[in-house]
Amino acid sequence: MRPKGIIIAIDGPTASGKSTTAKQVAARLGYLHINTGAMYRAFALMVRRRKGHGHDPVRVHELLGLAEIGFDGNGNILLNGMDVSREVQEPDIALLASELSTLKDVRAKMVEKQRELGTPGGVVLEGRDIGTVVFPNAELKIFLVADAGVRAKRRQLEFERMGTHIPLEELRQQLEERDTRDRERAISPLRKAPDAIELDTTNLTIEGQVERVYELARERLR
Ligand code: DC
Repeated sequence: MRPKGIIIAIDGPTASGKSTTAKQVAARLGYLHINTGAMYRAFALMVRRRKGHGHDPVRVHELLGLAEIGFDGNGNILLNGMDVSREVQEPDIALLASELSTLKDVRAKMVEKQRELGTPGGVVLEGRDIGTVVFPNAELKIFLVADAGVRAKRRQLEFERMGTHIPLEELRQQLEERDTRDRERAISPLRKAPDAIELDTTNLTIEGQVERVYELARERLR
């Protein structure tokens, strides 16, 4: 056992239920929740703010050197000391994060930070490559999947709660575009680790999926 508990890795495609599950499981166990997607999004936000240079790899590399990305005590994402948790939710940031996450040096920096935060244990990390690359020795690995129509609907409800209406078809298209890129990129593509437990959340309630992962974590802790 690690000093602070086990490492729980939750991977899966966009809107498969990772954030909700990771957050609630972490709260029940008194663990740290690390949303690694938010880290890629925070960097995308930095790149977008200096737009005009977004796709120039040299400039992206320079910006990477200036990016200090981490979390506050409440799990909010910080970019150079500022809480950017609202800004990173924007749909165009998600797409840019997906593009930037194909770059080797971007991934290397994020993975280094994730390992630094997660190595002591007592953490739930969610992302695309946690069980395969970041912590291949995690004590519990979950791979969440769900039907694309259901995932688009979930995204739509999330945006509606934030006061924005986005047509379902547009969301589904964005989600599929992102999934394809995340699955097909050369470095650390989205993939289920051979020892991950697959959980289809299409017909599960939030309580149901949280309970299942929590129970699996309890088993590992016994
Ligand atoms: O989990 P999310 O939708 O907030 O992630 C945004 C993008 O960041 C996602 O489309 C791909 C990238 N990402 C990644 O490449 N590796 C991770 N561990 C997490 C996210």
